[in-house]
Amino acid sequence: MSVENITRESTLAQTQREYILAVRTMSEEFERLHGYKPRCMARTYGCQQNENDTERIKGMLAAMGYDFVEDPESAELIIFNTCAIREHSERKILGHLGAVLPYRRAKPDMKIVLCGCMTGQPHIAELIRKSYKYVDMAFSPGALYRLPQNLYKLLSGQKYVFDFEGGAENISEGMPVLREGKTKAWVSIMSGCNNFCTYCIVPYVRGRERSRIPEAVLEEVRELVKSGYREITLLGQNVNSYCKDLQLGYDFADLLRDINSIEGDFRVKFMTSHPKDATRKLFDVIAECDKIGRHVHLPFQSGSDAILQKMNRKYTCEQYMQIIDYAKSKIPGVSFSSDVIVGFPGETEEDFEKTLQLVRRVEFSSLFMFIYSPRRGTPAAEMPDQVPHEVSVDRFNRLAQLQNSISLRRNERLIGQTVTVLTDKPDGGSLYGGKTADDIRVRFDSHGTHIPEGQSVQVKIERAANWAVFGQTV
Ligand code: SAH
Ligand code: SF4
Ligand code: F3S
Repeated sequence: MSVENITRESTLAQTQREYILAVRTMSEEFERLHGYKPRCMARTYGCQQNENDTERIKGMLAAMGYDFVEDPESAELIIFNTCAIREHSERKILGHLGAVLPYRRAKPDMKIVLCGCMTGQPHIAELIRKSYKYVDMAFSPGALYRLPQNLYKLLSGQKYVFDFEGGAENISEGMPVLREGKTKAWVSIMSGCNNFCTYCIVPYVRGRERSRIPEAVLEEVRELVKSGYREITLLGQNVNSYCKDLQLGYDFADLLRDINSIEGDFRVKFMTSHPKDATRKLFDVIAECDKIGRHVHLPFQSGSDAILQKMNRKYTCEQYMQIIDYAKSKIPGVSFSSDVIVGFPGETEEDFEKTLQLVRRVEFSSLFMFIYSPRRGTPAAEMPDQVPHEVSVDRFNRLAQLQNSISLRRNERLIGQTVTVLTDKPDGGSLYGGKTADDIRVRFDSHGTHIPEGQSVQVKIERAANWAVFGQTV
């Protein structure tokens, strides 16, 4: 990012900070009248980047004098931060949107807001305008930072506020964030995507890649560690191309190294890594840094070169295996998780067999499996030979069966070992939960001792399932 762009960003952020103060005055007036602050219910769908966006939305709303609630009935403001990755996600969200209509009818002052990736698609923006007239405000991901200005317009009496402009700006610096977790934090290091995998909607709805400047990311991590955060997850659609747009001679591996040298007791995770940009240097740095988790989420999408080419993934199955083998040779105990799509247009039984083969070769610790879903405006949606749904479902089930047996076998190897677990928030059940540094889910009995979120505990593993291992504190 050039100096002019940074200056421009801070001017844009300053304008929004002025609107924050204006809305805050309105909220104070509301509180004087009602005896309580205006309340917001925010629901998030989709990936961690969206979760992090909701934290930014909540940060701005908290600064504007809002409280947060879980139930739609008591809210003055309902926000749906949406995901467009598959048709199923979109249908589900529209269903949830329909379900709040009765609350809106019962409380005419309630405002309903739709934002996130779904609203980045022109046909959805049109659908909302035409068929969901009770949606008071909608904005695309590129307009997120203008929430204060848009909310001000809405509360000042404008009937509808629709803002689908701008993918170019994504103001991350200097705007408030309200984090969900007290010990685990997400840090977006970049936004957007340049890769245009032919099945994927993300580049269309989130715009091109924009990296945050390294010093801003490092400062955020330092602050988080100082305030007691124990796990930092760096986020980007393709973290391996971090900083390419800034041309600073600095890359993602450099960032990991610099974060690793921040003092404190914390661990670092990151996602997602695109195989085409996963360098040897990345794995060398992971090997030498003690705070970086020995686990890499490296989506392969398909084991067939013909399908990978049609997906525009820019690597072959063999190149993918070379990365895995290099990482395994450099980082003892490294584990991998991945994303895979079944039923991509033209996928034959033979192509699918190659996916099964790759899964057997790598032995992923976990695998996120998806049935291909055509997305309007993407090249794959127009490709011939769309695979019948029943065939995709059958392939999905076979793949799931294979991965379950691999996960179980991997987890069984941990029986008898003692592992370090970073604890989750207790869920009130009889067992506590957490994850190891290599992302294995652990459930354990603490013999009656209360263990809060974010503690490192030693757990001896006694039993394994495909989704978790079970044990007792030692
Ligand atoms: N940027 C990440 C992934 C983002 S989306 C990456 O490149 O790896 C998360 C996953 O959703 C993708 O890895 C892919 O497996 C899946 N996905 C994306 N578009 C899809 C579609 N149209 N149908 C089915 N699965 C899809
Ligand atoms: Fe989508 Fe590909 Fe970008 Fe990932 S890298 S967000 S799958 S276009
Ligand atoms: Fe969904 Fe947008 Fe994330 S489409 S997966 S919320 S980037």
